[in-house]
Amino acid sequence: MTVLVSGATGFMGSAITRHLLAAGYRVRAMGRSAERARSVLGSFNECRQALGEGRLTFVSADLTQPQTLPSAVAGVEVVIQAAQFPGAPNEDPGKGFTYMNVDRNGTMNLLEAISAVYWARTAGPGLVRFPSGSPRFLYLSGITVREEAPERWNRAKWQAEEAIRGSGLDWTIIRSSWAYGPGDAALNTIIRYSDFLPMMPLFGDGEEKSTPVFVEDVGRVFTLAVAAANATDGLTLQLGGPEIMTMNEILRTALAVMRRRRPLLHVPKPVGHVQGALMQFLPGRPLTPMAVDFSSQGGVADPTALRGLFPDFEPMRLRDALATYLPARRR
Ligand SMILES: NC(=O)c1ccc[n+]([C@@H]2O[C@H](COP(=O)([O-])OP(=O)(O)OC[C@H]3O[C@@H](n4cnc5c(N)ncnc54)[C@H](OP(=O)(O)O)[C@@H]3O)[C@@H](O)[C@H]2O)c1
Repeated sequence: MTVLVSGATGFMGSAITRHLLAAGYRVRAMGRSAERARSVLGSFNECRQALGEGRLTFVSADLTQPQTLPSAVAGVEVVIQAAQFPGAPNEDPGKGFTYMNVDRNGTMNLLEAISAVYWARTAGPGLVRFPSGSPRFLYLSGITVREEAPERWNRAKWQAEEAIRGSGLDWTIIRSSWAYGPGDAALNTIIRYSDFLPMMPLFGDGEEKSTPVFVEDVGRVFTLAVAAANATDGLTLQLGGPEIMTMNEILRTALAVMRRRRPLLHVPKPVGHVQGALMQFLPGRPLTPMAVDFSSQGGVADPTALRGLFPDFEPMRLRDALATYLPARRR
């Protein structure tokens, strides 16, 4: 079975790719540059082994360039959409790097490309949409996504989800909680401050609750969902780690794992908004007001449905997962 992974070079997509390969699947890794994808994924053991076995291939395709997508989706059994715009959550409308343009419209473009490749005409007058052999569509969404949510990131992903649900394809949507791991851009950035600051800064009071999930568990769940087609079709599932924690507790756990003592510095959100309003004009837009809200939103997963489907799946506790990669880098 060949799985197209859109966003295969990303934090989440590379974990999904590695776990699929470790389970024996063939993966077509999609990014805007196949050369970059080859170089990024080539650093992982599972990918190097699969390359040697001919199970890992690469395709250059851009979600915002519909003409590049049909060749990416042709001949695969599963499509996993795990891409988002570069630099998220700091939107850069001038470059088209926005939730609406990439996360929503890009997902819709991918669905359109599947239609273009797989729609079939019957012997009679009608069209048969998606005959057998059409790919399943798995979407990596976010735990805070809701129809009524006012935030742009939630609206964009809700609309992408709705397009998937109405596509006629077999589909599964997995709404992940905030994820962490060796390659994440969020927790690692905050932790890096403790390398040179006597405190750990964070926006807000740090009391919003979430169910932080280890990125390896995201890879494991997608691989389970690919295998369990019948059981997961038509489901919107929630994925989180096993603990409900505040951001304060998450950072204190990270400090404990690193055996560091640092007080947390709570930067009021209005101050963060002013910082974001200024820093959005710096090269690379390191912070925007919207990113301040995004980073302090929390989000708790209800694990009931996932547990029912995969009773043997036990996501890792934060402390245990952090201990697999933090000590070597930070102590
Ligand atoms: N990180 C989390 O904690 C978390 C939690 C819940 C849900 N999610 C969701 O998971 C998804 C992936 O997040 P992530 O953190 O893994 O993102 P990421 O590390 O920023 O990776 C983004 C990926 O998207 C690809 N990409 C960007 N623009 C593209 C385009 N125009 N066409 C095709 N590919 C494009 C990038 O590939 P190239 O640069 O190689 O083209 C890259 O592989 C997002 O939808 C995010 O909302 C993430």
